[in-house]
Amino acid sequence: MKEDAAEAEACQYIARLVYGRCRIRLHEGKDALIKARLGKRMRKHGFGGLAEYCDFLRTKGDEEEVTGVIDALTTNVTNFLREPEHFQFLVEQALPSVLPKNRKRFHIWSAACSSGEEPYTIGLYLSEHYSPALGWDWRIAASDISTKVLEQARLGIYPVERLEAMPRDWLRRYFQKGNGCWEGSCRVKPGISERVTFRQINLIEPYDHPQSFEVIFCRNVMIYFDRATQEQLVRQLCRFLVPKGYLLIGHSESLNGLNVPLRCLRPSVFQKNPV
Ligand SMILES: C[S@@+](CC[C@H](N)C(=O)[O-])C[C@H]1O[C@@H](n2cnc3c(N)ncnc32)[C@H](O)[C@@H]1O
Repeated sequence: MKEDAAEAEACQYIARLVYGRCRIRLHEGKDALIKARLGKRMRKHGFGGLAEYCDFLRTKGDEEEVTGVIDALTTNVTNFLREPEHFQFLVEQALPSVLPKNRKRFHIWSAACSSGEEPYTIGLYLSEHYSPALGWDWRIAASDISTKVLEQARLGIYPVERLEAMPRDWLRRYFQKGNGCWEGSCRVKPGISERVTFRQINLIEPYDHPQSFEVIFCRNVMIYFDRATQEQLVRQLCRFLVPKGYLLIGHSESLNGLNVPLRCLRPSVFQKNPV
């Protein structure tokens, strides 16, 4: 009984830690998930239960250990070509409308990019429609809170099964097949990967960028936050959008009722007000 109470208290401690760091709510009914996701870390340090592990975290846990906890408890599900209408909208409507005539240089931000599939998909569409060979000069900034997914993203290497939905000619043009120990994997070719820069950003903390963006993708992350956090997060994103720039959010997310300087063009597509 005493042990159960200690385990429940440990789960609450982890939930508070994660909420404090990244505003993800793991409170009600998430004890099993917390224990399952932290099992590997507990075993690594030789602990049999969460209560013991939490004592260690509280007294001796360094920043690396806390980062490991955040990495283990964030949900990183993503895919190439996910919610594909957004990429079509990017190349066919957003960029033609937001770019001044004769401007060939622009910037896109994939905020909460997980293991890189989203920013690389943006790169694929831009290569097709805004080819650097025709003088276009674009850069993609990509960020996430999780250092683990950012490492995978920087590598740009994916099992071929993850590329099943990719058109054959895109596979040929933009991916390199692995040989030897890389058999069964594909790497994003430098023509795209050189234009994508990854860095760690916690969207609920202050951050800066050296330039503004014509379009920001911030998809399938806000769903984990309460309304006050969503409003704060979107207002901060808007500081880095050019006037009339676009914000794209996940199809199951909404900005209804938030006080933000954006107008809704259609569900999940928003445009910043002109100044
Ligand atoms: C479900 S994935 C979405 C990936 C991609 N945008 C997509 O739609 O496929 C959510 C990502 O948000 C990241 N995340 C969670 N909290 C965050 C925060 N406070 N700041 C930045 N990224 C965060 C997670 O690490 C995870 O990689």
